[in-house]
Amino acid sequence: MLEIIPNTVDPDGSALLAFLDKEELARHLNLFLSDQGRRASLPDARIRVLRWHKKNRCTMEITLETYGIFHELIGKIYAVERSDTYRMMKTMWREGFDQSAKYSIPQPLMYMYSLRLLLQENIAGASVREIFLGSDRRKQFEAAERSAHWLAYFHNLAPRLTQVSPAENQLAKMKRWTRRLAELELGDPVTEKSRQLFEKLQAEHSQLRDAEFTAGHNSYSPAHVLLADGRTAVIDWDGYDVGDPARDLAMFVVATQRLALGHLSSIRALDWLADAFLQTYVAERGAEVLPRLPFYKAAMCLKLAKYCAFNRQVPQWEKKVVAMLDEGVRVLGEKNTKTLLPLAQVIVLPKDCNQSKRGPKRPRAPRKSRFFNRTA
Ligand SMILES: Nc1ncnc2c1ncn2[C@@H]1O[C@H](COP(=O)(O)OP(=O)(O)O)[C@@H](O)[C@H]1O
Ligand SMILES: [Mg+2]
Repeated sequence: MLEIIPNTVDPDGSALLAFLDKEELARHLNLFLSDQGRRASLPDARIRVLRWHKKNRCTMEITLETYGIFHELIGKIYAVERSDTYRMMKTMWREGFDQSAKYSIPQPLMYMYSLRLLLQENIAGASVREIFLGSDRRKQFEAAERSAHWLAYFHNLAPRLTQVSPAENQLAKMKRWTRRLAELELGDPVTEKSRQLFEKLQAEHSQLRDAEFTAGHNSYSPAHVLLADGRTAVIDWDGYDVGDPARDLAMFVVATQRLALGHLSSIRALDWLADAFLQTYVAERGAEVLPRLPFYKAAMCLKLAKYCAFNRQVPQWEKKVVAMLDEGVRVLGEKNTKTLLPLAQVIVLPKDCNQSKRGPKRPRAPRKSRFFNRTA
């Protein structure tokens, strides 16, 4: 029997049914278990939708019971074919980002082509997002550090499995976001701020030319970093690509600011954690990435402003659109002064958060990875 458990994300239990037929899913889950050598007849399955995007994708927690044994999985179903995500995860897993590694990803278990369903390991651990929103400052600081270590390791060692996308594509996208924001007619201030931000981004774009290229998560945020005992695992691999590592750093920082904006007193409330994250990353991989950071932070602000404007269910979306545009303009304005300097200095931790006895690490030259020059 397959049971869909309604929750706040999916109150009437219907989200998943827009993507597939319940019976078909039950049959396929049975196929999965048979493939694992587990059983022959239909298992009991309980499904809880975790997140869904209309006509695009739906992520669910699946609990399968066979002979009193429970198997916890995550299933992600797509509206279009995405076996590339599964293949990429398989390669990462083989290359050492596996369950025994300190820095890892969820184990990819199966991709069912007929349903466009990706099954993967359910990581039992708290997300850095939850920890950042908590009140234990030591834990928050450690979570920021672990997120930075994971990312530095990934940028150093992860295989480069796609072509680098041309730099012009980035600007074309930003132009499209700006135009779409203007079309919404949210008032002159929004139109004017987004135009101003785009013009600044356009002016800065040529300075990105000498960037290094590494594997990129492309959606690196506190919600996607899960902390289990001895293991840091990063989820949501649909955006994987190859590009400037500054993008992942910028995304994490802006996602942290967005978290503060939505849940705490001000957009700046978690900046100390964003700084700890950057400081730790720079200590591992060097500071070369920093001059490109403001551009990608501002680009991320524009993207999030557009996201909030088009997703009116986002609480206080109007306030967030304006705040994100303001932050983007501010970040580019400070480019060569404030943003780049503090990272070379000691980060001031809250008083109740002990620093390591050895004090902050000094930046080191970046290490070359064994995959660094590998082509796709
Ligand atoms: N492998 C996993 N282990 C544990 N939780 C997961 C896993 N994958 C996804 N989740 C949970 O489901 C949520 C949505 O998954 P995600 O892949 O980020 O979907 P989306 O593409 O909609 O952002 C995550 O924020 C996380 O809470
Ligand atoms: Mg996600």
